[in-house]
Amino acid sequence: MSDGGTARASAFERGGAREAAEGLGHLSGFGNEHSSEAVPGALPEGRNTPQRAPLGLYAEQLSGTAFTEPRAHNRRSWLYRIRPSAAHPAFTRTGNGAIRSAPFNQTVPDPNRLRWSPLPAPAEGTDFLAGLWTLGGNGDVTQRAGMAVHLYYANASMDRVFSDADGELLIVPEQGGLVLRTEFGLLHVEPGHIALIPRGVRFRVELLDDVARGYVCENYGAAFRLPELGPIGANGLANARDFRAPVAAYEDVEGPVEVVNKFCGNLWSATYGHSPLDVVAWHGNHVPYAYDLRRFNVMGTISYDHPDPSVFTVLTAPSDTPGLAGVDFVVFAPRWLVGEDTFRPPYFHRNVMSEYMGLIEGAYDAKAEGFVPGGGSLHNMMSAHGPDRETFDRASAAELRPQKIDDGLAFMFETRWPMSLTPQAARAEHLQRRYDDVWQGLERHFRTVRSG
Ligand SMILES: [Fe+2]
Repeated sequence: MSDGGTARASAFERGGAREAAEGLGHLSGFGNEHSSEAVPGALPEGRNTPQRAPLGLYAEQLSGTAFTEPRAHNRRSWLYRIRPSAAHPAFTRTGNGAIRSAPFNQTVPDPNRLRWSPLPAPAEGTDFLAGLWTLGGNGDVTQRAGMAVHLYYANASMDRVFSDADGELLIVPEQGGLVLRTEFGLLHVEPGHIALIPRGVRFRVELLDDVARGYVCENYGAAFRLPELGPIGANGLANARDFRAPVAAYEDVEGPVEVVNKFCGNLWSATYGHSPLDVVAWHGNHVPYAYDLRRFNVMGTISYDHPDPSVFTVLTAPSDTPGLAGVDFVVFAPRWLVGEDTFRPPYFHRNVMSEYMGLIEGAYDAKAEGFVPGGGSLHNMMSAHGPDRETFDRASAAELRPQKIDDGLAFMFETRWPMSLTPQAARAEHLQRRYDDVWQGLERHFRTVRSG
């Protein structure tokens, strides 16, 4: 399949997630003008809204940016579907479960360093949506500014369909593969991959394993894009061609389908008489993506010191201030450490940005213990953090040979505003009450006479 070409797939049936995941086609590239049709001839040629769309389909535009945003940033897609999205009954409020939205003003913002163990296991029959649990965030969902950190822990596939008008969803699986059946087609992700679902796109999450656990960044602001590369050059970090967009695949289901819509912080539900995953063809640049984090081309020092961790940015969601992200998604992927006369783990620092970190697998090189896969830490604006004592002592004494870090995959949601917690995160049983202890015992080594 060539970039930007027209790819074909067939209609899909409900269920059979494992079969659906095997041999799944995809379109290659981030931000491309893609096109795809599940039935030959479904995509109009040379125009978006012919008087009668092919095959009796309805034409519909989905905007990801305002119509008038600069061409370089403008995102929209045209969908050709069995019924227009407008054909739905009224939504009514439904329970929000453990999902919360900004402004997060029910707790006092906490300057302390915080860390959580993984979520407790969910009750039987918990799907992705029911298993979403909000940790906190910032901004205001009605102002399309800020972000939320959610965790999910599910043991059942969704039967219903979900969409989030409040933001795009960056899904970071830590346990269990997922098939995401979206309006644009199917995506398959495993732990170590990410999925990006644009604002408002309908999708269903099906489990490939007994349980699925992971993290979600809900980005209320401008959509994630690839960071500028500056002096790095034309290649490197996350390469655009490694992002996978789905090929068109549709669900032709007549019968009741529950559709849940997150809107201005609340969940609303409607029972459609058909599946809204009924897009037979589409084209555009506002599409879901999957990406394998192990494809990240890691940059680092080949002389001394560390570059700042911004060099590990996979995707950035810009704010109105150049260089100041609403949220960055950063990965600490396997890499070589070769710096001479250098303290090689992440350095001590206080950051004007706020950092939520999670661990997908293995260990993280700044923490000897307590930071485990499925858990997470929050180092809010200006909170002092860095290696724990054990790591500091070891790294300060280590013989500096080239060293491969290949046993961990950690990530960070780094955001311009401090994050506030939800009450459930502030009071959680799995909040580690003694996290500060990891920096205790960092002893005084100061001498007025230089040794050696
Ligand atoms: Fe940090």
